[in-house]
Amino acid sequence: MTLNLKRFLAATAISFGLAATAYAESCDETALYANMETMADNMRPLVSAIRSNNIEEAQSRLATLRTAAVDASDETPYSLADGGDSADIEAFQNAMTDMVARLDEASAALEAGDTGAAASHLQAIGDMRKDGHRQFKDRSCR
Ligand code: HEM
Repeated sequence: MTLNLKRFLAATAISFGLAATAYAESCDETALYANMETMADNMRPLVSAIRSNNIEEAQSRLATLRTAAVDASDETPYSLADGGDSADIEAFQNAMTDMVARLDEASAALEAGDTGAAASHLQAIGDMRKDGHRQFKDRSCR
């Protein structure tokens, strides 16, 4: 889509009072971006909580991450907003579903008192992040 057309659509959305939900002008304005920031804010404290054996804190961080990941799976990456086909969207949703499943496994491991297994699941989530960003994050997105 050309920039002019994007601007026209954004202006139209504003005139209908739909700006916030109807159109993201850049990567960091998406609902997905906000959920990603929530994930980023919680990963480090989660790792610290596991290291210091603070299980209650770790479970609470995992729950926050889970909510953000579930929300994210209903959202559309900025890179797919224009040209993404349904296979791309499905691949994105599957990746987020896998992440939710890993979060649940980490939570179950903590519940069972196995902090080592929980840490391995977090490592897998770190890899999912790397792959997800390589595949779905727009190059303009810092
Ligand atoms: C714990 C795991 C993750 C963390 C902490 C995380 C963190 C972030 C952060 C901080 C951003 C903002 C841009 C930046 O600073 O790089 C971002 C953007 C983004 N992330 Fe993640 N991310 C995670 C997992 C994932 C996964 C699994 C996917 C895809 C399946 C994904 C897809 C994206 C996309 C597409 C954007 C750009 C925003 C948009 O297009 O609307 N992320 N992420």
